[in-house]
Amino acid sequence: MIILSIETSCDETAAAIVKFKNGKAEVLANVVSSQIKTHSKFGGVVPSLASRMHLKNMVPVLKRAFTRAKINKNKIDYIAVTNGPGLIPALMVGTQAAKALAYALNKPLIPVHHIEGHIYANWLKPVRKCQMSNVKCQNYTLANPEFPVLCLIVSGGHTQLVLMKKDLDYKIIGETLDDAAGEAFDKVAKLLGVGYPGGPVIEKMARLGNKNKFKFPRPMMNSKDYNFSFSGLKTAVLYAWNLEFRILNLEDRKKNVKLQNSGADFNSAKFHPDFRQDSKFKIQNSKFKFDIAASFQQAVIDVLISKTIRAAKEYKVKNIILGGGVSANKELQKQFKERISKEFPITNSQLPITNLSTDNALMIAVAGYYYILNNKNISDWKNVEADANLVLSI
Ligand code: KG4
Ligand code: ZN
Repeated sequence: MIILSIETSCDETAAAIVKFKNGKAEVLANVVSSQIKTHSKFGGVVPSLASRMHLKNMVPVLKRAFTRAKINKNKIDYIAVTNGPGLIPALMVGTQAAKALAYALNKPLIPVHHIEGHIYANWLKPVRKCQMSNVKCQNYTLANPEFPVLCLIVSGGHTQLVLMKKDLDYKIIGETLDDAAGEAFDKVAKLLGVGYPGGPVIEKMARLGNKNKFKFPRPMMNSKDYNFSFSGLKTAVLYAWNLEFRILNLEDRKKNVKLQNSGADFNSAKFHPDFRQDSKFKIQNSKFKFDIAASFQQAVIDVLISKTIRAAKEYKVKNIILGGGVSANKELQKQFKERISKEFPITNSQLPITNLSTDNALMIAVAGYYYILNNKNISDWKNVEADANLVLSI
């Protein structure tokens, strides 16, 4: 069975063609066209621009996928598409492309929830030969994990703990009440003036910093529920940044009578960029930024892992998975593995940490495949619409 899948929920235009047979997934093509360069100039994703870029890239991405897969379009058996949640102008492009293809090729269309994709990316186990070579893995076996499975999904739009008692059965046991974890990484990076997307750059900076330098709060870490909150942590980073800024510039401020007399508020966000141009400040500042990045990252990691382990104990799960863009963070992956093996060892855990963390269409094909296996959600193109607020439900 061959599935063509499409994903355009945010700033990646992606298409994959995957052959599923006898519990194996052979990836014939997995194309991702990123818009990061375009959006980074604006410090975040601009929805209307994302939509225009998806429109421009959708057909070339599909063409590349078919060229790589070396198959005729008629060989496709099913089409799967992310129809939500996400940015509606972005989702509409992928959904309409999938509908047009389903109509033209007369194939069934399977709508997939974006988070389902992040979850099912973890069902792909790289075949050993692939894992050992340095070549990007193209072949996977499909895991048949023992349930319950606890999923920690951390992305730019979501932070959720999802409990699965069987395939395609989801219960959200906790989620963020404000910012998503990835959003917090992006906002802190913006505050430090180090670009977009924030996650990868904060991770790099954190490697050079001292994670114990700042005692940032661990919001809701000990609350009885499994919800999260990251906006207060982001504010704590802002205060630390402002305070340190003042100390570092005390000397400069003393010298600068004009500024002192101007009554300027050194805490004001408006005022900071001028100071950031100062070369002496920049040098002092970089070490400080690394420490902030490391301390912030550790606070996020501590909260995510502590709550996951507590939920795993309460629900007596057999597997724990980590998915979504933030799960690309190597320090999170390392501490996740270490703490789980120490505090909640699962001897029969069958799911390795995925290397498909950030948005891609391969994960959508896998979720689509499980819908086909379970004879669910197999729709006609007429019945599928993009939905920005699509809810993950059974
Ligand atoms: O899943 P994803 O690709 O898109 C959404 O569904 O939102 O996740 C993107 C998010 C961004 O906020 C980005 O900063 C974050 O994942 N991210 C990371 C890392 N790589 C991407 N966060 C922390 N560490 C990383 N290495
Ligand atoms: Zn995502």
